[in-house]
Amino acid sequence: MVFAIARAASRASHWSVKSFHSSSANLHGVKRVGVIGAGQMGLGIALVAANVSKLPVLLLDSNENQLNKGLKFMDSLLKKDIAKGRLTEAQADETRSRVKTTQKMADFGDVDFVIEAVSENPALKATLFRDLAQATPAHAILASNTSSISITKIAAAAKGREEQVIGMHFMNPVPVMKLVEIIPGLATSDKVLKTTQDLAVAMGKTCTLSQDVPGFVANRLLMPYINEAIIAYETGIASKEDIDTTMKLGTNMPMGPLTLADFIGLDTCLSIMKVLHEQLGDTKYRPSVLLGKMVDAGWVGKKAGRGFYKY
Ligand SMILES: NC(=O)c1ccc[n+]([C@@H]2O[C@H](COP(=O)([O-])OP(=O)(O)OC[C@H]3O[C@@H](n4cnc5c(N)ncnc54)[C@H](O)[C@@H]3O)[C@@H](O)[C@H]2O)c1
Repeated sequence: MVFAIARAASRASHWSVKSFHSSSANLHGVKRVGVIGAGQMGLGIALVAANVSKLPVLLLDSNENQLNKGLKFMDSLLKKDIAKGRLTEAQADETRSRVKTTQKMADFGDVDFVIEAVSENPALKATLFRDLAQATPAHAILASNTSSISITKIAAAAKGREEQVIGMHFMNPVPVMKLVEIIPGLATSDKVLKTTQDLAVAMGKTCTLSQDVPGFVANRLLMPYINEAIIAYETGIASKEDIDTTMKLGTNMPMGPLTLADFIGLDTCLSIMKVLHEQLGDTKYRPSVLLGKMVDAGWVGKKAGRGFYKY
């Protein structure tokens, strides 16, 4: 898992939409997808939904700049794939035309499947799911890309729609990483689980299933490793370069844990550690003090131009 995440993240600066194949998967009536959050994850999810599963996508973000930035980035990825012969101009145009943007949830009146990818903040996600339960058609499935927050808790906010809420945890960068971790909440129906798995497959992904526990599988294992690396750095065990090089060359990781933290986003790493610490109640999950300070300073990694390293 760590190897796979790190290997793909090392290619994050040159994402590509490798395959352009039409999917014959049964999408159980899913004809239009809504994605919330045009950050690094939401943008990747929107691109893969439009390009691989060929579904029309409505991408919502509260921040107009993020939407514009996201569309520009999507365009640059498509251009790269055209240059490499992976995509024709016509195919790229079709993909572009499938992605529309909005700042209003009221526009989600005709989506069949929503994938939420806003910042890892439990209160923010609860508010969004409360509103989604009102704004979307009664049959629509409401999935969250949360890295660690309880799906059952998010579902409880979507009053009357608890059976249709599910975790759909994509990995970063989405166009490259093959895995989607699927997490049913306590109330999630089998039908919703099946549709979600089939949509992930139509998006070219392989699914694993996890219980709804803090961090699920991926971040229950990955985040304590990254947090421990930050503690090693803050307590002066070694320089950041030596920590990363030790893990890269000593354990055959494609990149060190501090570089990987920069790619994920230190704000996201801190939020996940807080969820693990608060909900599992074990001091071994205490977030590193330095991690909190870096988030306070706004040095949240590659997306901000500065984290443990400068970009
Ligand atoms: N970064 C990773 O490696 C990674 C991997 C898997 C899952 N995730 C999860 O994906 C989610 C998003 O992470 P990210 O790295 O893309 O974050 P990000 O900071 O890159 O993007 C978050 C986006 O959410 C938008 N947003 C915030 N509040 C909003 C609101 N009320 N309505 C609409 N949009 C809003 C922001 O404008 C921003 O564009 C988090 O839950 C995170 O835990 C992240």
